[in-house]
Amino acid sequence: MTDRYAVMGNPVAHSLSPRIHAQFARESGHDLAYGTLLVESGHFAEAAKNFFAAGGKGLNITVPFKQEAWALAEQHSQQAALAGAVNVLFCDAQGRLQGHNTDGIGLVRDITRNHGGVLAGKSVLILGAGGATRGILLPILQEKPAAVCIANRTVSKAEELVRLFAPYGNVSACGYEAMPGQHFDWVINATAASLQGELPPLPSGLLNAGAWCYDLMYSKEPTVFCQWAQQHGAHKSLDGLGMLVEQAAESFLLWRGVRPPTTAVLTALKAG
Ligand code: ATR
Repeated sequence: MTDRYAVMGNPVAHSLSPRIHAQFARESGHDLAYGTLLVESGHFAEAAKNFFAAGGKGLNITVPFKQEAWALAEQHSQQAALAGAVNVLFCDAQGRLQGHNTDGIGLVRDITRNHGGVLAGKSVLILGAGGATRGILLPILQEKPAAVCIANRTVSKAEELVRLFAPYGNVSACGYEAMPGQHFDWVINATAASLQGELPPLPSGLLNAGAWCYDLMYSKEPTVFCQWAQQHGAHKSLDGLGMLVEQAAESFLLWRGVRPPTTAVLTALKAG
C-alpha cells in the first residue's frame, strides 16, 4: 500500500506542499501519496486522529492549526516544545503521536546552505513577536549570532519571548520607536505585515554594510519588505520560498529517514 501523507490547514488549496513532496518522492525513489486536507475550525484534533487511525503516515500542519497540533502531540521535539507550535506530526514505533517543528531549521538551512549566509557572530534584528518569530528563534540562536533583537509594536510580546529564549542566547526586545540609531547585519521580517502589503515602521540607516534581509513571506513579486531591503542597500534580500522547501525536506527526513535534494524543487517553484 502506498504511504499516505497530507497537509492540514484552512485555507489549504493554495499549498505548494503536495507539489514539493511529489518531487521529493520522485527524486528519492519513494512511493508515497501527499494531498491537502481542508479542516474546519474546531475539528482539527478529530481530523488528525482519523487520518492516523486510517493508516496515514504523516501530516504537515499549517495555519491556523499549528498550536492545536502542538496540544495534540504526545511528545515534542525541543524545537516544537519551545515554539509552542507543531508543523509535522507522525506516529512513532510505539504508536505515540510525535510533534516537531521544522520551520526554523528550514529557515536556517535556506540561509546557510542555499545562500551561503552566515548568522554566527552577527547582529540580528527580528521584526514581529508572534508565532512565526517563536518558531524560528531557537534554530537562529543555535547558530550563535552575537545578538538577536526582537522588535514588535506590542513590546510586551517581544519581552515575553526574551524571557522564554534567554537561556539559549543573547536576545533582547525593543519597540520600533527605539530603532533609530541601531544597525544590524541581518533583518528578518516575521511580522504578518507583508500579508497586507504593509511594512513595519523601519528607519533608514538600519542596515550595516553587507547586511542581509529575509522575509519569511514569499510571493511572485518581491514582497514590500524585500523592496524596502533593496532600496536601503541590503547586500541580499531573500524571501521565504527556500524556507518553505527546506522545512518540507526536514519533514520528509523525519517521515522517511532520507533528506531529499532541494535544489531542483526550488528551481521548479521559482519557474512557476
Ligand atoms: P504569526 O503566527 O504569523 O506570527 P501572529 O501571532 O498574529 O501571527 O503575529 C503577527 C505579528 O506581526 C505580530 O508580531 C504583530 O505585531 P503585534 O504583536 O504588535 O500585533 C505583527 N504585525 C502584524 N501586522 C503588522 C504591521 N502592519 N506592522 C508591524 N507589525 C505587524
